[in-house]
Amino acid sequence: MCAQKLIFIAAIMASGFISAPVQASSQESRDKVRGKYLIEIGGCNDCHTAGFAQSGGATPETDWLKGDSLGFRGPWGTTYPTNLRELIGEISESEWVAKAKALKTRPPMPWWALNAMTENDLVAIYRYVRSLGAVKNPVPAYVPPEKEPVTPYIQWPLPPEIN
Ligand code: HEC
Repeated sequence: MCAQKLIFIAAIMASGFISAPVQASSQESRDKVRGKYLIEIGGCNDCHTAGFAQSGGATPETDWLKGDSLGFRGPWGTTYPTNLRELIGEISESEWVAKAKALKTRPPMPWWALNAMTENDLVAIYRYVRSLGAVKNPVPAYVPPEKEPVTPYIQWPLPPEIN
């Protein structure tokens, strides 16, 4: 290879033209590792993964975050943990960040934890959950307080001061 060509390639590399995609992909894999860590320490699997809490966290990763048909029943009605893989699979990264920042749900979802996350952490969660693949696994719809759920549920009593 002639010296001129070598100088040309070196100049392109120095400009970041060649190394940029390499950096982007390693950022992506760092995000996935961090996203998994945030899901684990955020306790998201406890509710959004069927059987996770009951098995002491033994559910295989391939089955994480597919939602659950075990309801949470309280004065708010009965809620079911969303299939996060389907949800995140259907929206863009920026839609996810905006949604998580403004999220407010019925109990017992700790929506304030998502509101408090940094944009970088939310992006990491998005990339990790996307990497698991969007799996269809419909969870039952919300049941209003006066209706009896047809699924098993965990009963949440009113706090004593409200009763
Ligand atoms: C104590 C149980 C519990 C934990 C822990 C929990 N969630 Fe939830 N989550 C729920 C329930 C139940 C709903 C449905 C609430 C409703 O129907 O109003 C929900 C809803 C959501 C929604 C809204 C979905 C939609 O369709 O708008 C998002 C996003 C979400 N959870 C993400 C997370 C993440 C990320 C974590 C971990 C940081 C987490 N959740 C931890 C129970 C939980």
